[in-house]
Amino acid sequence: MKRKNDGPALPGEGDTDYARYMRTDALLDLQRSPAEVIHRDELLFQVTHQSTELWLKLAASELAEAIARVEAGEPASAESLLTRATLAVRLVTDQLDMLGHLQPADFQAMQPALGNGSGAESPGWRQTQTACRKLGLAFTALLADRGTDLAALYARDPSDPLFRLAEAMVEFDDRVSNWRVRHYKIAIRVGSHGVIGTAGSPSNMLAKLIDYRFFPELWQQRASTLA
Ligand code: HEM
Repeated sequence: MKRKNDGPALPGEGDTDYARYMRTDALLDLQRSPAEVIHRDELLFQVTHQSTELWLKLAASELAEAIARVEAGEPASAESLLTRATLAVRLVTDQLDMLGHLQPADFQAMQPALGNGSGAESPGWRQTQTACRKLGLAFTALLADRGTDLAALYARDPSDPLFRLAEAMVEFDDRVSNWRVRHYKIAIRVGSHGVIGTAGSPSNMLAKLIDYRFFPELWQQRASTLA
């Protein structure tokens, strides 16, 4: 039997099996070194963005599997996977708070290091958004397959797996909107992008996006059940 101090059992780079499996050497080398940075807050900025990309990689993967389960007619397992993706969005929302510790002058000072980069180019958010659109289509197709529609679904038993999936989709939508609220406020607080509220300004665009919904028909159906 292998003892703890026998040394690493796995192949690969790193002194320990933890380092080899988690690829910590490569991971911790992905941030600009103190010698490279033009401002020390670049580490805070990169860690927040890079960890966001990792959580969204997981979210997009769980969403892709959730779509496959919906297509296979398994709404209950799709709901569990979607719940994981929702939690990933909650976690990336919380970590936006770290960026609130950037002073506008410090953020401005690091701008040359960022080139023309924008979070709008985030691969994690792009994949998540694409997956959400596919999930909406797969859900609509499943409703049709089962010979039902949203009005009938929302009039039925709340423990119905299809209903629970619909509500999990609403929750996901809501959490993305919460991310956008927090992101908008952080962008204002860091104050790097022009006059607040000017028509056509980036902050105006971010404020408008807060109301965007991936599954608007679900929100309409819920609202239509009001007396
Ligand atoms: C200091 C922190 C941040 C500031 C000042 C900021 C600022 C902005 C601004 C001004 C825009 C509008 C488009 C543009 O002008 O580029 C934008 C869009 C965007 N940013 Fe950020 N951002 C910050 C952090 C983040 C983080 C951590 C992420 C996560 C990857 C992110 C993701 C996005 C996305 C996805 C958009 C497109 C709009 C949307 O889908 O809501 N941003 N950001």
